[in-house]
Order: sequence, then C-alpha cells, then structure tokens
Amino acid sequence: MDASFSSVARTIAAHLASAPSSTEEIDAAVQHLRRSAGVAVPREGFVAMPGRDHAAILAPAIAAGLDHGAADIAAALAALPTPLVWHYHYAPHPGSPPDAEDLAERIGFAELIGPRAPLTAPACRVGFTLLAPATCYPQHAHPAIELYLVISGHAQWTTPGDERIVPPGAFVLHSASKPHAMRTFAEPLLALYGWRGDIDTPAFYL
Ligand SMILES: [Fe+2]
Repeated sequence: MDASFSSVARTIAAHLASAPSSTEEIDAAVQHLRRSAGVAVPREGFVAMPGRDHAAILAPAIAAGLDHGAADIAAALAALPTPLVWHYHYAPHPGSPPDAEDLAERIGFAELIGPRAPLTAPACRVGFTLLAPATCYPQHAHPAIELYLVISGHAQWTTPGDERIVPPGAFVLHSASKPHAMRTFAEPLLALYGWRGDIDTPAFYL
C-alpha cells in the first residue's frame, strides 16, 4: 500500500464510490465528498503546524474501526507513516465553568484536504474528528454543509428534534447552520467529515 495522505484520499474516494444510495441530500453530499477526495493532490511545500498528540485516543479508535463498515479507511489511517496533525479551534465553550475539563484534550480535528491541509482540492474541507470516550462535543453550528462518515465508535448524535446512536459505516448529514452535538460513552469516536458550501466560516459553539 502507498502509505501517504494521498492514499487515504484515494481510499476515501473508493469507499464512497460503493456507498449504497440513501436520501437525495446524502447522495449529493457523498458524491461531492467522493469527487473531492478523488481529485485531491499534495500541497506543494506543505509544512504541518505543530498539533496535539492524541495517539492514546486515536490508536484504539483506529483498531476498533478495522472491524467495522469503514475498515478500508481505518486501515489507510493505520498505515500512515506520518501521523495526522490534530488541532482544536474553538474558543472556550460559553456555558462551561472555569474548572471544566479542557475540551481541547478530548476533542481533535485533523484536516486532510483543505486550505491549510496536506492535500488540496477545490471548494472542500475533508478531515477527521476524534472524541475521547465519555466526552460531550457541545452543540455547535457552521454555515458549511457537512457530511460525516463514522469510522469507529457508537456515539450519540443530536440535532434539534432528533437524537440517535450512529454506528460505524453510517452517514450523518448536517445542513447549513443546523445545530448539532455528539456524545461518546465507553468508546472513542473517529469520523470522517466533508464540508462544502461556505468552508471559510469556522464552526462555533451555540
Ligand atoms: Fe459540524
């Protein structure tokens, strides 16, 4: 296997090419994400900014993903010789007391394709979201349309009027500016995300 970020993108594109048809909205988001991953190329002169070390959360998440519906993507991540670089961009959550857990230690985002990512493709951001076990990713929103593909973990996904456990291999679509939150239990959550539309306005806590 070509163990590189490009190989992860190709694996994502191949996985999505065989995704079963769902709703019209999810199918459109899947096809956008598939095309983005399929045309992504390495960014010339890319230098990774220092990130957070989430290896202790990521390793079991990838291992669990090898047994589930997106095992091909988990395997591509496991084969990477250069680790993904994890960041956390949010300002402190407005409802959190000063002594609350530091969410930056429990939640991370690693962008694979995007304006400052190792790979580039037009009009998209593609990356991974990682949550430690027993973590609440508070309600947030962003104007971008977002498609998630769960790689591992059975987290609770909440949007106004809907709360469900989403298994590995399943998609979750968030329309523009729709509030959403996730909560993990005993397992970490590792999920692929794809943004389209307004990809420049960052997510914010509500
Ligand atoms: Fe989101």
